Amino acid sequence: MSEMFSLKGRVALVTGASRGLGFAMAKALAENGATVIVNARDMDTLSAAAEKIGAEALPFDVADAATSRAALEGIVERHGRLDILINNAGIQHRSPLVEWEDEDFDRVIAVNLSACFRMMREAVRLMLPNKFGRIINTGSVAAILGRPTIHAYVAAKAGLHGLTRSTAAEMGRHGITINAIAPGYFATELNTALINDEAFTKWVEARTPAGRWAQPEELGGAVVFLASDAAAYVNGHVLAVDGGLSVSL
Ligand SMILES: NC(=O)c1ccc[n+]([C@@H]2O[C@H](COP(=O)([O-])OP(=O)(O)OC[C@H]3O[C@@H](n4cnc5c(N)ncnc54)[C@H](OP(=O)(O)O)[C@@H]3O)[C@@H](O)[C@H]2O)c1
Repeated sequence: MSEMFSLKGRVALVTGASRGLGFAMAKALAENGATVIVNARDMDTLSAAAEKIGAEALPFDVADAATSRAALEGIVERHGRLDILINNAGIQHRSPLVEWEDEDFDRVIAVNLSACFRMMREAVRLMLPNKFGRIINTGSVAAILGRPTIHAYVAAKAGLHGLTRSTAAEMGRHGITINAIAPGYFATELNTALINDEAFTKWVEARTPAGRWAQPEELGGAVVFLASDAAAYVNGHVLAVDGGLSVSL
């Protein structure tokens, strides 16, 4: 591996990393030399995931502001620094528009957008003294293309792409880059309902130029690149990893 992509000596936190895309990204970071801390709420699943990749398990709910802040500060106390934050924890809620409850909308926004904002702010506070940081937000193709029933999710991801740009514009001169990865359709637990729907899977295969669902490991290259020295001048970018979905009709 070229030194340019090495993450040796870097300390990385990945939220929502007990399974799915977060786990795959945490694994890729660990394999490229980073000290990795994985987060999720359920401790049993998280411990098992952490053990598989030699990571530290740090359970907390990203929607809980005080706990999240303490968790980030704890990382610096234990490891001396925080270099990389992958803001990945996310939830979904599907419902016809007229049946959406306010609480469901607020819950999705709280986890998928407000928590990401707070995590970025707290992480930047800890990164500033080192004049180095990499923040990577998990966005979505749903930030740029609408889809029925997932209104809060689309709003949150569009907001997260926007936050990526505004924070990048402010932090660039401090050695901190902030980018997003916009995945297309990945086969994870979040999409269980869709994967089990034969008609939907046929639609994904026809709609995506790659002709198939993606596997979580296929995010590894993108996250390692954005976290590495190779991407030092890449800032405020949204990298689509979607098999060509967002550029085709
Ligand atoms: N799969 C796709 O096709 C796709 C496409 C575009 C974007 N994304 C985005 O990618 C991210 C990961 O999705 P995924 O498909 O890997 O989902 P997933 O399989 O459902 O995994 C979600 C992870 O987030 C954790 N989590 C959920 N709420 C949390 C909270 N409040 N605090 C801390 N951790 C929390 C979950 O563990 P616990 O439940 O134990 O907390 C789990 O580890 C999400 O932001 C999603 O929107 C996914």
